Amino acid sequence: MSDSVSTSSDRTNGVLAMELLRIDVLEEEGDDVLQGTTERDHSSFSKNVLRKQRHWERKLAARKSKRKEEKLRRNLNRHSEGVEQPRLTKRVMKAVARERLVEARSGGLKVCVDLGMSHRMSGKETSRLAAQLRRLYGANKRASKPFHLFLTSFREDSRLLAECVRMNAGFLEYMMERTEQSCLEIFPPDHVVYLSPDAEEALERVDHDKVYVLGGLVDESVQKTLSLSRAKELGVRAVRLPIDEHMKKMPNEKNFHSKILAINQVFEIMLAVCDTGSWMQALDERFPRGKGYVVA
Ligand SMILES: C[S@@+](CC[C@H](N)C(=O)[O-])C[C@H]1O[C@@H](n2cnc3c(N)ncnc32)[C@H](O)[C@@H]1O
Repeated sequence: MSDSVSTSSDRTNGVLAMELLRIDVLEEEGDDVLQGTTERDHSSFSKNVLRKQRHWERKLAARKSKRKEEKLRRNLNRHSEGVEQPRLTKRVMKAVARERLVEARSGGLKVCVDLGMSHRMSGKETSRLAAQLRRLYGANKRASKPFHLFLTSFREDSRLLAECVRMNAGFLEYMMERTEQSCLEIFPPDHVVYLSPDAEEALERVDHDKVYVLGGLVDESVQKTLSLSRAKELGVRAVRLPIDEHMKKMPNEKNFHSKILAINQVFEIMLAVCDTGSWMQALDERFPRGKGYVVA
């Protein structure tokens, strides 16, 4: 039902509020008579009435909005029980996303973005990484099963943090972990799996006991094998997306083919594979068309 259509309970509450207002006015009049102030300044009398009217209108509006919230909450519950999906308002969608992010903090797949190499980037690359972090966070917020997100080795005095704050509204309030510690200071090395386009091993199964790490890098002047070297330096397992296993080259005018994706693109593929359980589907839906590959 649209917001502008009043329900019978709205009308009941409206009548109730007007009734209470009338009682107030009568009381006011009674007080005046008792106090012998019938000549009391008429304007102050009507000011009081107006004040009370406004008070009741505010109360009424608050009740109305509370009822609306209740109704939306009930709709949501019905949705989670598998009943037909209702249209959700922006505010409710926001609340749902928030709740999912809170849940992800205790049970979601752990994904880190390792920002320990950000000093290797130019100013322009740093700005692009800040934008990619915004998209990555946006994808996580929209996901039905978001990940527990960590931005590690993220220095408080870094140009990247300044850029994230400048470019991404509300960045400091994003619902994720942001720390100067490295992923290895937080997680045991044998749980850490580093994603690198240059790794030999293909990632086939996403394991909830593991922590998946993305190299926080934008390399316009491609600094090859940086993430693979980083994984070696940290002494952790490195894996690549299973592109060779599930995709083939697509002929294109420029004969351009690349398996190196931006962090937000890899992140979205990871979300999709966890959601669907299928690499084929995840790559088909999320692998960027411009990279010159299609699902085989
Ligand atoms: C733009 S890439 C950086 C590429 C850089 N040359 C490197 O050595 O990692 C950003 C990050 O996304 C992840 N990534 C990109 N493409 C990938 C792929 N095909 N397989 C696995 N991870 C990938 C890696 O974690 C990588 O560090």
